[in-house]
Amino acid sequence: MCRFLYAASFVLVCSFSQLAFAETPVQILTEIKAEAAKTPGFQDFSATRGADFFKTKHGNELSCTSCHTTNPAAQGKHAKTDKPIKPIAPAANDERFTDMKKVQKWFKRNCNDVLDRLCTPQEQGDVLAYLLTIPKS
Ligand code: HEC
Repeated sequence: MCRFLYAASFVLVCSFSQLAFAETPVQILTEIKAEAAKTPGFQDFSATRGADFFKTKHGNELSCTSCHTTNPAAQGKHAKTDKPIKPIAPAANDERFTDMKKVQKWFKRNCNDVLDRLCTPQEQGDVLAYLLTIPKS
Protein backbone atom coordinates (compact mmCIF):
# COMPACT_ATOMS: atom_id res chain seq x y z
CA MET A 1 0.00 0.00 0.00
CA CYS A 2 2.71 2.40 1.03
CA ARG A 3 4.57 1.58 -2.09
CA PHE A 4 1.54 2.30 -4.19
CA LEU A 5 0.96 5.63 -2.45
CA TYR A 6 4.57 6.58 -2.94
CA ALA A 7 4.37 5.82 -6.64
CA ALA A 8 1.09 7.69 -7.01
CA SER A 9 2.37 10.81 -5.26
CA PHE A 10 5.53 10.72 -7.34
CA VAL A 11 3.49 10.81 -10.52
CA LEU A 12 1.42 13.67 -9.11
CA VAL A 13 4.46 15.70 -8.11
CA CYS A 14 6.01 15.11 -11.50
CA SER A 15 3.00 16.25 -13.45
CA PHE A 16 2.65 19.30 -11.22
CA SER A 17 6.24 20.31 -11.69
CA GLN A 18 5.91 19.88 -15.42
CA LEU A 19 3.01 22.27 -15.37
CA ALA A 20 4.95 24.70 -13.22
CA PHE A 21 7.89 24.69 -15.61
CA ALA A 22 5.91 25.04 -18.83
CA GLU A 23 6.84 28.38 -20.32
CA THR A 24 5.50 30.64 -23.02
CA PRO A 25 7.54 31.73 -26.05
CA VAL A 26 7.55 35.29 -24.65
CA GLN A 27 9.00 34.05 -21.34
CA ILE A 28 11.66 32.13 -23.26
CA LEU A 29 12.45 35.30 -25.21
CA THR A 30 12.82 37.20 -21.93
CA GLU A 31 15.26 34.59 -20.63
CA ILE A 32 17.33 34.75 -23.82
CA LYS A 33 17.29 38.53 -23.51
CA ALA A 34 18.73 38.36 -20.01
CA GLU A 35 21.62 36.33 -21.47
CA ALA A 36 22.08 38.63 -24.47
CA ALA A 37 22.11 41.70 -22.22
CA LYS A 38 25.35 40.44 -20.67
CA THR A 39 27.15 41.27 -23.93
CA PRO A 40 28.38 44.87 -23.90
CA GLY A 41 26.64 46.99 -26.52
CA PHE A 42 23.49 44.81 -26.62
CA GLN A 43 20.53 46.89 -27.75
CA ASP A 44 17.56 44.71 -28.59
CA PHE A 45 16.40 41.86 -30.76
CA SER A 46 15.37 42.50 -34.33
CA ALA A 47 12.80 40.41 -36.18
CA THR A 48 14.20 41.66 -39.51
CA ARG A 49 17.70 40.54 -38.60
CA GLY A 50 16.23 37.24 -37.38
CA ALA A 51 14.47 36.71 -40.72
CA ASP A 52 17.73 37.30 -42.61
CA PHE A 53 19.60 35.00 -40.29
CA PHE A 54 16.96 32.28 -40.69
CA LYS A 55 16.89 32.43 -44.48
CA THR A 56 20.57 32.76 -45.36
CA LYS A 57 23.40 30.29 -45.45
CA HIS A 58 26.30 30.76 -43.09
CA GLY A 59 29.22 29.06 -44.75
CA ASN A 60 27.93 25.58 -45.52
CA GLU A 61 25.13 24.12 -47.65
CA LEU A 62 22.41 24.36 -44.99
CA SER A 63 20.29 27.25 -43.76
CA CYS A 64 17.52 27.10 -41.15
CA THR A 65 15.06 27.01 -44.07
CA SER A 66 16.64 23.81 -45.43
CA CYS A 67 14.62 21.91 -42.82
CA HIS A 68 12.10 24.45 -41.51
CA THR A 69 11.22 25.82 -45.02
CA THR A 70 10.89 29.51 -45.93
CA ASN A 71 7.44 29.52 -44.30
CA PRO A 72 7.87 28.91 -40.55
CA ALA A 73 4.12 28.30 -40.23
CA ALA A 74 4.32 25.35 -42.61
CA GLN A 75 5.42 21.80 -41.90
CA GLY A 76 9.11 21.31 -42.50
CA LYS A 77 11.13 18.40 -43.77
CA HIS A 78 14.54 17.28 -42.56
CA ALA A 79 17.07 17.97 -45.32
CA LYS A 80 18.97 14.74 -44.66
CA THR A 81 16.40 12.22 -43.45
CA ASP A 82 13.25 13.62 -45.15
CA LYS A 83 11.40 13.22 -41.84
CA PRO A 84 8.52 15.69 -41.36
CA ILE A 85 9.12 18.50 -38.86
CA LYS A 86 6.18 20.28 -37.27
CA PRO A 87 5.91 24.04 -37.94
CA ILE A 88 8.52 26.06 -36.05
CA ALA A 89 6.42 29.24 -35.61
CA PRO A 90 4.69 29.36 -32.19
CA ALA A 91 1.44 30.61 -33.79
CA ALA A 92 1.27 27.44 -35.88
CA ASN A 93 2.44 25.00 -33.21
CA ASP A 94 1.53 25.36 -29.50
CA GLU A 95 4.48 23.27 -28.36
CA ARG A 96 7.15 25.52 -29.80
CA PHE A 97 9.33 27.52 -27.42
CA THR A 98 7.62 26.27 -24.26
CA ASP A 99 10.57 24.34 -22.82
CA MET A 100 13.92 26.11 -22.48
CA LYS A 101 15.79 22.80 -22.30
CA LYS A 102 14.37 21.68 -25.61
CA VAL A 103 14.96 25.09 -27.18
CA GLN A 104 18.62 25.08 -26.14
CA LYS A 105 19.14 21.48 -27.21
CA TRP A 106 17.91 22.21 -30.73
CA PHE A 107 19.56 25.60 -31.07
CA LYS A 108 22.81 23.84 -30.22
CA ARG A 109 22.35 21.01 -32.69
CA ASN A 110 20.89 23.08 -35.52
CA CYS A 111 23.30 26.00 -35.20
CA ASN A 112 26.20 23.57 -35.30
CA ASP A 113 24.77 22.11 -38.52
CA VAL A 114 24.26 25.50 -40.14
CA LEU A 115 27.08 27.67 -38.74
CA ASP A 116 29.59 25.13 -37.41
CA ARG A 117 29.30 26.96 -34.09
CA LEU A 118 26.70 27.84 -31.46
CA CYS A 119 24.26 30.69 -32.08
CA THR A 120 24.83 33.66 -29.80
CA PRO A 121 21.99 34.78 -27.49
CA GLN A 122 21.60 37.78 -29.84
CA GLU A 123 21.08 35.46 -32.82
CA GLN A 124 18.71 33.18 -30.88
CA GLY A 125 16.64 36.17 -29.76
CA ASP A 126 16.54 37.68 -33.25
CA VAL A 127 15.27 34.36 -34.65
CA LEU A 128 12.61 33.99 -31.96
CA ALA A 129 11.55 37.64 -32.39
CA TYR A 130 11.12 36.88 -36.10
CA LEU A 131 9.21 33.63 -35.50
CA LEU A 132 6.85 35.47 -33.14
CA THR A 133 5.86 37.80 -36.01
CA ILE A 134 4.68 34.86 -38.16
CA PRO A 135 0.90 34.47 -38.28
CA LYS A 136 -0.76 31.05 -38.14
CA SER A 137 -0.73 30.51 -41.89
C1 HEC B 1 19.12 19.53 -40.69
C2 HEC B 1 17.76 19.99 -40.38
C3 HEC B 1 17.59 21.25 -39.55
C4 HEC B 1 18.17 22.48 -39.78
C5 HEC B 1 19.12 22.89 -40.89
C6 HEC B 1 17.66 23.35 -38.74
N1 HEC B 1 16.79 22.67 -37.93
FE1 HEC B 1 15.86 23.39 -36.26
N2 HEC B 1 15.05 21.57 -35.89
C7 HEC B 1 15.26 20.43 -36.65
C8 HEC B 1 14.66 19.29 -36.00
C9 HEC B 1 14.68 17.84 -36.52
C10 HEC B 1 14.08 19.78 -34.81
C11 HEC B 1 13.39 18.98 -33.71
C12 HEC B 1 12.17 18.29 -34.11
C13 HEC B 1 10.97 19.06 -33.73
O1 HEC B 1 10.97 19.67 -32.66
O2 HEC B 1 10.02 19.04 -34.51
C14 HEC B 1 14.34 21.22 -34.77
C15 HEC B 1 13.93 22.05 -33.76
C16 HEC B 1 14.32 23.36 -33.62
C17 HEC B 1 14.02 24.18 -32.48
C18 HEC B 1 13.23 23.75 -31.24
C19 HEC B 1 12.07 24.68 -30.97
C20 HEC B 1 11.10 24.14 -29.96
O3 HEC B 1 10.88 24.77 -28.94
O4 HEC B 1 10.50 23.08 -30.22
C21 HEC B 1 14.61 25.40 -32.71
C22 HEC B 1 14.65 26.61 -31.79
C23 HEC B 1 15.24 25.33 -34.01
N3 HEC B 1 15.04 24.09 -34.55
C24 HEC B 1 15.90 26.39 -34.60
C25 HEC B 1 16.64 26.29 -35.77
C26 HEC B 1 17.45 27.37 -36.30
C27 HEC B 1 17.59 28.76 -35.70
C28 HEC B 1 18.07 26.89 -37.42
C29 HEC B 1 19.09 27.60 -38.28
C30 HEC B 1 20.29 28.07 -37.60
C31 HEC B 1 17.62 25.51 -37.59
N4 HEC B 1 16.76 25.18 -36.58
C32 HEC B 1 18.04 24.67 -38.62
C33 HEC B 1 15.96 20.37 -37.84
C34 HEC B 1 16.72 21.39 -38.39
